[in-house]
Amino acid sequence: MTDEPHWPDIASRVRSETFVRHVERHDEIGSTNDRALDLAAEHDLPMPALVMTARQTAGRGRAANVWRSGPGALTFSLVIERPATLPAERTPILSLLAGLAARRAVAALAPGREVKVKWPNDVYLDGRKVCGILAEVPSPASGRIVIGIGINANNSLDDAPDEVRRRAVSMREATGRPIDVGELLVAALINLEEELSYAARAGELPVERWLPHCLLDGRAVCLRTPRGEVTGRCVGVASTGELLLETATGRRSYTTGEVIRF
Ligand code: BTN
Repeated sequence: MTDEPHWPDIASRVRSETFVRHVERHDEIGSTNDRALDLAAEHDLPMPALVMTARQTAGRGRAANVWRSGPGALTFSLVIERPATLPAERTPILSLLAGLAARRAVAALAPGREVKVKWPNDVYLDGRKVCGILAEVPSPASGRIVIGIGINANNSLDDAPDEVRRRAVSMREATGRPIDVGELLVAALINLEEELSYAARAGELPVERWLPHCLLDGRAVCLRTPRGEVTGRCVGVASTGELLLETATGRRSYTTGEVIRF
Protein backbone atom coordinates (compact mmCIF):
# COMPACT_ATOMS: atom_id res chain seq x y z
CA MET A 1 0.00 0.00 0.00
CA THR A 2 1.34 3.45 -0.90
CA ASP A 3 0.74 6.51 1.25
CA GLU A 4 -0.77 9.29 -0.88
CA PRO A 5 1.66 12.25 -1.05
CA HIS A 6 0.39 15.60 0.19
CA TRP A 7 0.04 17.26 -3.20
CA PRO A 8 -0.76 20.84 -2.04
CA ASP A 9 2.54 20.88 -0.10
CA ILE A 10 4.38 19.50 -3.10
CA ALA A 11 2.84 22.17 -5.37
CA SER A 12 3.86 24.91 -2.96
CA ARG A 13 7.46 23.56 -2.75
CA VAL A 14 7.60 23.52 -6.56
CA ARG A 15 6.47 27.17 -6.68
CA SER A 16 8.92 28.36 -4.05
CA GLU A 17 12.01 26.20 -4.76
CA THR A 18 12.08 25.78 -8.53
CA PHE A 19 11.90 27.81 -11.75
CA VAL A 20 8.33 26.58 -12.48
CA ARG A 21 5.81 29.45 -12.69
CA HIS A 22 2.54 27.60 -13.33
CA VAL A 23 1.56 24.41 -11.51
CA GLU A 24 -1.38 22.20 -12.35
CA ARG A 25 -2.22 19.07 -10.34
CA HIS A 26 -4.72 16.43 -11.39
CA ASP A 27 -6.08 13.47 -9.41
CA GLU A 28 -6.34 11.62 -12.69
CA ILE A 29 -5.62 12.48 -16.31
CA GLY A 30 -5.14 10.61 -19.60
CA SER A 31 -1.64 11.87 -20.33
CA THR A 32 0.21 14.79 -18.73
CA ASN A 33 2.01 15.27 -22.06
CA ASP A 34 -1.32 15.72 -23.88
CA ARG A 35 -2.39 18.33 -21.33
CA ALA A 36 1.02 20.04 -21.56
CA LEU A 37 0.77 20.14 -25.37
CA ASP A 38 -2.56 22.00 -24.98
CA LEU A 39 -1.06 24.39 -22.40
CA ALA A 40 1.83 25.13 -24.75
CA ALA A 41 -0.65 26.87 -27.06
CA GLU A 42 -1.69 29.34 -24.33
CA HIS A 43 0.45 32.37 -24.99
CA ASP A 44 -0.23 34.20 -21.73
CA LEU A 45 0.59 31.28 -19.47
CA PRO A 46 3.61 31.86 -17.22
CA MET A 47 6.48 29.54 -18.17
CA PRO A 48 7.77 27.00 -17.31
CA ALA A 49 4.43 25.28 -16.69
CA LEU A 50 4.11 21.98 -14.85
CA VAL A 51 1.35 19.38 -15.12
CA MET A 52 1.46 16.60 -12.54
CA THR A 53 -0.95 13.84 -11.73
CA ALA A 54 -1.54 11.15 -9.13
CA ARG A 55 -2.93 8.75 -11.78
CA GLN A 56 -2.33 8.65 -15.52
CA THR A 57 -4.66 6.45 -17.55
CA ALA A 58 -3.32 6.81 -21.11
CA GLY A 59 0.40 7.47 -20.66
CA ARG A 60 2.42 7.56 -23.86
CA GLY A 61 6.01 6.45 -24.32
CA ARG A 62 8.58 6.76 -27.08
CA ALA A 63 8.05 4.81 -30.31
CA ALA A 64 4.27 4.75 -29.69
CA ASN A 65 4.72 2.55 -26.59
CA VAL A 66 2.28 2.62 -23.68
CA TRP A 67 3.61 4.04 -20.39
CA ARG A 68 2.15 2.59 -17.18
CA SER A 69 2.05 4.74 -14.04
CA GLY A 70 0.77 2.63 -11.17
CA PRO A 71 -0.22 4.27 -7.85
CA GLY A 72 2.87 5.79 -6.24
CA ALA A 73 4.62 6.67 -9.52
CA LEU A 74 5.83 10.23 -10.13
CA THR A 75 4.25 11.46 -13.36
CA PHE A 76 4.65 14.96 -14.74
CA SER A 77 5.23 17.10 -17.83
CA LEU A 78 6.92 20.45 -18.13
CA VAL A 79 6.37 23.08 -20.81
CA ILE A 80 9.44 25.25 -21.38
CA GLU A 81 10.41 28.00 -23.78
CA ARG A 82 12.92 26.70 -26.30
CA PRO A 83 16.34 28.30 -25.75
CA ALA A 84 17.31 30.38 -28.82
CA THR A 85 20.62 28.49 -29.02
CA LEU A 86 18.79 25.19 -29.47
CA PRO A 87 16.71 25.41 -32.67
CA ALA A 88 14.26 22.62 -33.61
CA GLU A 89 16.94 20.32 -35.06
CA ARG A 90 18.75 20.41 -31.71
CA THR A 91 15.74 19.16 -29.71
CA PRO A 92 17.44 15.77 -29.06
CA ILE A 93 19.95 17.62 -26.86
CA LEU A 94 17.11 18.80 -24.58
CA SER A 95 15.84 15.29 -24.32
CA LEU A 96 19.26 13.90 -23.33
CA LEU A 97 19.65 16.68 -20.77
CA ALA A 98 16.28 15.82 -19.24
CA GLY A 99 17.62 12.28 -18.77
CA LEU A 100 20.74 13.61 -17.07
CA ALA A 101 18.63 15.78 -14.73
CA ALA A 102 16.30 12.90 -13.83
CA ARG A 103 19.27 10.57 -13.30
CA ARG A 104 20.77 12.93 -10.74
CA ALA A 105 17.44 13.21 -8.87
CA VAL A 106 17.05 9.42 -8.76
CA ALA A 107 20.69 8.93 -7.67
CA ALA A 108 20.29 11.43 -4.81
CA LEU A 109 17.44 9.35 -3.34
CA ALA A 110 19.03 5.96 -4.04
CA PRO A 111 22.49 6.41 -2.50
CA GLY A 112 25.04 3.71 -3.24
CA ARG A 113 23.06 2.39 -6.23
CA GLU A 114 24.16 2.36 -9.84
CA VAL A 115 22.06 4.93 -11.70
CA LYS A 116 22.77 5.33 -15.43
CA VAL A 117 21.30 6.93 -18.54
CA LYS A 118 20.49 4.72 -21.51
CA TRP A 119 20.57 6.71 -24.74
CA PRO A 120 18.64 8.71 -25.49
CA ASN A 121 17.05 9.41 -22.12
CA ASP A 122 15.96 6.37 -20.10
CA VAL A 123 17.24 6.18 -16.53
CA TYR A 124 18.35 2.77 -15.25
CA LEU A 125 18.66 1.81 -11.58
CA ASP A 126 20.77 -1.28 -10.84
CA GLY A 127 20.42 -2.34 -14.50
CA ARG A 128 16.65 -1.90 -14.82
CA LYS A 129 14.56 0.95 -16.20
CA VAL A 130 13.28 3.30 -13.51
CA CYS A 131 12.39 6.40 -15.56
CA GLY A 132 11.18 7.17 -19.08
CA ILE A 133 11.11 10.54 -20.82
CA LEU A 134 9.09 11.74 -23.79
CA ALA A 135 10.06 15.14 -25.24
CA GLU A 136 7.63 16.56 -27.79
CA VAL A 137 7.43 19.68 -29.93
CA PRO A 138 3.88 21.17 -29.71
CA SER A 139 4.08 23.27 -32.87
CA PRO A 140 7.43 24.63 -33.99
CA ALA A 141 5.88 28.12 -34.16
CA SER A 142 5.04 28.07 -30.42
CA GLY A 143 8.75 28.11 -29.57
CA ARG A 144 8.02 25.72 -26.74
CA ILE A 145 8.92 22.15 -25.83
CA VAL A 146 7.11 19.59 -23.69
CA ILE A 147 9.20 17.27 -21.55
CA GLY A 148 7.23 14.41 -19.98
CA ILE A 149 8.86 12.38 -17.22
CA GLY A 150 7.63 9.21 -15.55
CA ILE A 151 9.59 7.84 -12.59
CA ASN A 152 8.82 4.51 -10.92
CA ALA A 153 9.07 5.90 -7.41
CA ASN A 154 6.81 4.07 -4.93
CA ASN A 155 4.75 2.08 -7.41
CA SER A 156 4.89 -1.69 -7.59
CA LEU A 157 5.49 -3.45 -10.89
CA ASP A 158 3.89 -6.68 -9.60
CA ASP A 159 0.84 -6.23 -11.85
CA ALA A 160 2.86 -5.29 -14.93
CA PRO A 161 3.30 -7.75 -17.82
CA ASP A 162 6.23 -10.20 -17.39
CA GLU A 163 8.34 -8.50 -20.02
CA VAL A 164 8.01 -5.12 -18.23
CA ARG A 165 8.74 -6.68 -14.81
CA ARG A 166 11.93 -8.25 -16.14
CA ARG A 167 13.43 -5.00 -17.32
CA ALA A 168 11.88 -2.34 -15.04
CA VAL A 169 12.07 -1.53 -11.34
CA SER A 170 10.73 1.08 -8.94
CA MET A 171 12.93 3.06 -6.57
CA ARG A 172 11.05 1.71 -3.58
CA GLU A 173 11.53 -1.89 -4.73
CA ALA A 174 15.24 -1.35 -5.40
CA THR A 175 16.07 0.54 -2.20
CA GLY A 176 13.57 -1.11 0.14
CA ARG A 177 12.58 2.36 1.35
CA PRO A 178 9.61 4.65 0.59
CA ILE A 179 10.54 7.54 -1.68
CA ASP A 180 9.61 11.15 -0.94
CA VAL A 181 8.05 12.04 -4.30
CA GLY A 182 7.98 15.76 -3.45
CA GLU A 183 11.74 15.69 -2.89
CA LEU A 184 12.22 13.69 -6.08
CA LEU A 185 10.14 16.11 -8.16
CA VAL A 186 11.80 19.24 -6.74
CA ALA A 187 15.27 17.73 -7.31
CA ALA A 188 14.40 16.76 -10.90
CA LEU A 189 13.12 20.30 -11.63
CA ILE A 190 16.13 22.03 -10.05
CA ASN A 191 18.48 19.75 -12.03
CA LEU A 192 16.51 20.40 -15.20
CA GLU A 193 16.84 24.15 -14.79
CA GLU A 194 20.59 23.74 -14.31
CA GLU A 195 20.98 21.53 -17.39
CA LEU A 196 18.79 23.79 -19.52
CA SER A 197 20.72 26.92 -18.61
CA TYR A 198 23.97 25.12 -19.48
CA ALA A 199 22.53 24.09 -22.84
CA ALA A 200 21.15 27.57 -23.47
CA ARG A 201 24.67 28.99 -22.99
CA ALA A 202 26.64 26.29 -24.80
CA GLY A 203 24.13 25.25 -27.49
CA GLU A 204 25.35 21.67 -27.15
CA LEU A 205 25.34 18.60 -24.95
CA PRO A 206 27.90 18.58 -22.12
CA VAL A 207 29.35 15.26 -23.32
CA GLU A 208 31.93 15.19 -20.51
CA ARG A 209 29.10 15.24 -17.95
CA TRP A 210 26.84 12.81 -19.82
CA LEU A 211 29.38 10.14 -20.75
CA PRO A 212 30.39 8.97 -17.23
CA HIS A 213 26.75 7.96 -16.68
CA CYS A 214 26.25 6.25 -20.06
CA LEU A 215 24.90 2.72 -19.54
CA LEU A 216 25.86 1.63 -23.05
CA ASP A 217 29.41 2.95 -23.26
CA GLY A 218 31.72 0.20 -24.58
CA ARG A 219 28.89 -2.32 -24.96
CA ALA A 220 27.75 -4.15 -28.08
CA VAL A 221 24.26 -2.86 -28.85
CA CYS A 222 21.49 -3.41 -31.36
CA LEU A 223 19.70 -0.25 -32.42
CA ARG A 224 16.33 -0.29 -34.18
CA THR A 225 16.24 2.65 -36.57
CA PRO A 226 13.57 3.74 -39.04
CA ARG A 227 15.77 2.09 -41.70
CA GLY A 228 16.28 -1.25 -39.95
CA GLU A 229 18.42 -2.74 -37.19
CA VAL A 230 22.08 -1.84 -36.73
CA THR A 231 24.62 -3.50 -34.44
CA GLY A 232 27.86 -2.01 -33.17
CA ARG A 233 29.87 -1.08 -30.11
CA CYS A 234 28.76 2.10 -28.35
CA VAL A 235 31.60 4.64 -28.33
CA GLY A 236 29.67 7.48 -26.71
CA VAL A 237 27.49 10.37 -27.83
CA ALA A 238 28.14 13.46 -29.96
CA SER A 239 27.73 17.01 -28.64
CA THR A 240 24.66 17.17 -30.90
CA GLY A 241 23.11 14.22 -29.06
CA GLU A 242 23.62 11.42 -31.61
CA LEU A 243 24.55 7.91 -30.48
CA LEU A 244 27.98 6.89 -31.78
CA LEU A 245 28.45 3.27 -32.82
CA GLU A 246 31.54 1.52 -34.13
CA THR A 247 30.01 -0.80 -36.74
CA ALA A 248 31.46 -3.36 -39.15
CA THR A 249 31.52 -0.59 -41.77
CA GLY A 250 33.05 2.12 -39.56
CA ARG A 251 31.90 4.74 -37.07
CA ARG A 252 28.29 5.85 -37.52
CA SER A 253 26.08 8.35 -35.68
CA TYR A 254 22.35 7.98 -35.09
CA THR A 255 19.85 10.73 -34.28
CA THR A 256 16.85 8.48 -33.65
CA GLY A 257 16.26 4.85 -32.78
CA GLU A 258 15.62 2.50 -29.90
CA VAL A 259 18.34 0.37 -28.36
CA ILE A 260 16.64 -3.03 -28.21
CA ARG A 261 19.59 -5.18 -27.03
CA PHE A 262 22.71 -4.31 -25.09
C1 BTN B 1 9.44 5.97 -22.64
O1 BTN B 1 10.24 5.43 -21.88
O2 BTN B 1 9.03 5.39 -23.66
C2 BTN B 1 8.95 7.36 -22.32
C3 BTN B 1 7.91 7.35 -21.25
C4 BTN B 1 7.43 8.74 -20.90
C5 BTN B 1 6.33 8.70 -19.87
C6 BTN B 1 5.98 10.06 -19.37
S1 BTN B 1 4.93 9.96 -17.95
C7 BTN B 1 4.60 11.67 -18.06
C8 BTN B 1 4.41 11.99 -19.52
N1 BTN B 1 3.07 11.74 -19.95
C9 BTN B 1 2.99 10.79 -20.89
O3 BTN B 1 1.96 10.41 -21.45
N2 BTN B 1 4.23 10.30 -21.13
C10 BTN B 1 5.23 10.98 -20.34
